Amino acid sequence: MNKLTLEQLMQARYGKSIPLDCEMNETLETIFQHRSIRTYCDKPLPKDTLELLIAAGQSASNSSNLQSWSLVAVEDPERKDRLSKLSGNQEHIRTCPLFLVWLADLSRLEALGKKRELPYDGLNYLELLTVGMIDAALASQNAALAAESIGLSIVYIGGIRNNPEAVAKELNLPPRVFPVFGMCVGYCDPEKSSSIKPRLPQAAIAHREQYNAPRSIEAVEEYVNEMNAFYEKNNMKTNGDWVQHSLYRIRGPESLNGREHMHEWLKKLGFEVK
Ligand SMILES: Cc1cc2nc3c(=O)[nH]c(=O)nc-3n(C[C@H](O)[C@H](O)[C@H](O)COP(=O)(O)O)c2cc1C
Repeated sequence: MNKLTLEQLMQARYGKSIPLDCEMNETLETIFQHRSIRTYCDKPLPKDTLELLIAAGQSASNSSNLQSWSLVAVEDPERKDRLSKLSGNQEHIRTCPLFLVWLADLSRLEALGKKRELPYDGLNYLELLTVGMIDAALASQNAALAAESIGLSIVYIGGIRNNPEAVAKELNLPPRVFPVFGMCVGYCDPEKSSSIKPRLPQAAIAHREQYNAPRSIEAVEEYVNEMNAFYEKNNMKTNGDWVQHSLYRIRGPESLNGREHMHEWLKKLGFEVK
């Protein structure tokens, strides 16, 4: 990957330079160089990659130190194939050498409550499921950055939520464990290049002191042009511009890939979600 200056990386992320009075360092470089990769080569991962990523994940902050997340690491090609089918047939799940399934895990606390004969009714509330999902997300992003810092690439897989019951069966998940998302890990195929994807202008998502809705919506217009250029440059087919594309993804329950049944599914997986 080319060494870029902070200014060049801001240019790539926002389509314009953002003056930052800050020295570049390796951590910032890893963060700002991020792009999702969906084409992997079959080069094996360095020894102990999984342990490194787990340690990075566990080093993230977590709610009340409950550590209410877990992961399942999948390398078996047949299992990856089945998980790919359950996730909208995404080819990169088959081709990546390591597929991580990040879990909101309340089962450990339930088991400990039973063992110590202490109450754990709080687990039945939406709040605790939220805690598990937040913890899994924070851990996974730390692992993603650790992977990228050693030259690996990743892509998150929300498709794992298309059919959580079947995924739970495939991975032998106990009740009160929910697969939040997957993550492909591997070396990017050097033949396939990919670009840093621009983000909304800071004015669209960051507010000072109080939320400013009109300013946020106004700033999106600038982004639409930026993304049109990005789609064109990268030969990406989309449902119109970024706004049309985004609204298409949320047009109704039929756009949620089965996930409109999430509430029922959670109940089946042992979450009361009170
Ligand atoms: C929770 C989550 C779920 C995602 N699910 C998928 C997925 O199922 N398939 C996929 O190809 N990309 C998936 N992505 C990747 C996003 O599309 C990608 O991060 C986004 O377009 C921004 O591009 P970038 O990561 O290259 O900057 C997911 C990302 C996140 C954070």
